Amino acid sequence: MDSRSIWVRVPGTSANCGPGFDSIGLACTVYNDLQLRLTTEPGCQITIKGAGAQNIPVDERNIVWRAVQYLLKQAHMEKKYPGAVIHMENQVPLSRGLGSSATAIVAGLKAANILLDNRFSRRELLQFATDIEGHPDNVAPAIYGGFTVSTVTRGEVECFTFIPKLRLKLVVAVPDFPLSTRKAREVLPEKVSLKDAINNIGRAGMLVAALCKGNEKFLKNVFEDALHQPYRAPLIPGMYDVFAAARKAGALGASLSGAGPCLIAYTLQRHHVEEAVGKAMQECFLRHGVKSDIMILDLDTRGAHILNDK
Ligand code: HSE
Repeated sequence: MDSRSIWVRVPGTSANCGPGFDSIGLACTVYNDLQLRLTTEPGCQITIKGAGAQNIPVDERNIVWRAVQYLLKQAHMEKKYPGAVIHMENQVPLSRGLGSSATAIVAGLKAANILLDNRFSRRELLQFATDIEGHPDNVAPAIYGGFTVSTVTRGEVECFTFIPKLRLKLVVAVPDFPLSTRKAREVLPEKVSLKDAINNIGRAGMLVAALCKGNEKFLKNVFEDALHQPYRAPLIPGMYDVFAAARKAGALGASLSGAGPCLIAYTLQRHHVEEAVGKAMQECFLRHGVKSDIMILDLDTRGAHILNDK
């Protein structure tokens, strides 16, 4: 018999957060919803509404379907359920640096796991998701919510999750062009200098410590990065000027969101500067010939979860 159907909601994510390349990430309040039903008939039927609907494959290449199959295989249930009915309702912009592929992977794993009566723990889902995505910094916050710091040691992923003591607003400028993560990783160097590595280690540590302790004075320079942003800057016209505009308008700092092209500025809620920061970022991008939309988001603290009322 076919299984029941389930809805899950998964937050979009912003990876790196400046100095934490492939390690630090956060979940934000923009979501993709997935309805999944496993079937005993082979083949998958996929329908998609919302962000990027025209550009997401609805065949065997679909990432949600691949993640569902991955989980079924881990549970040795792929023969029992050779097919699925998948419906996606997406808000997370596609190929913009807000973790759209991670949300798809996590949604597929989470929904299939629930339909198998939560056979795997969240920790195991994190390992599967990291194995599929190749790095943990988007999938970890998509699963757990909040900020996450992840390490991968000889293939084994570990993740520390925390909610900062400071109330942040996240201002995201979403350019009107996509950038594939593959392309944005191709421009990175094989080796980096010791000086650049030291700069990032210090900032990443200070970023996490300052957020955990709620000490905003240490956040002044921590969003800077020497490991990936300088190499990606040519792919995003005006990137450093937009960072400067965000800071001038009152942001604590700004960084490339994941592999870009979205830029994210971090502001304190009690400063009430998020609208002004968004406007400054948008205008600055436009001076460089880039049209963008502004999203003003909060930190998602829940991560992937079942939607009972949909
Ligand atoms: N850490 C990754 C990167 C995130 O910057 O390439 C994008 O998926």
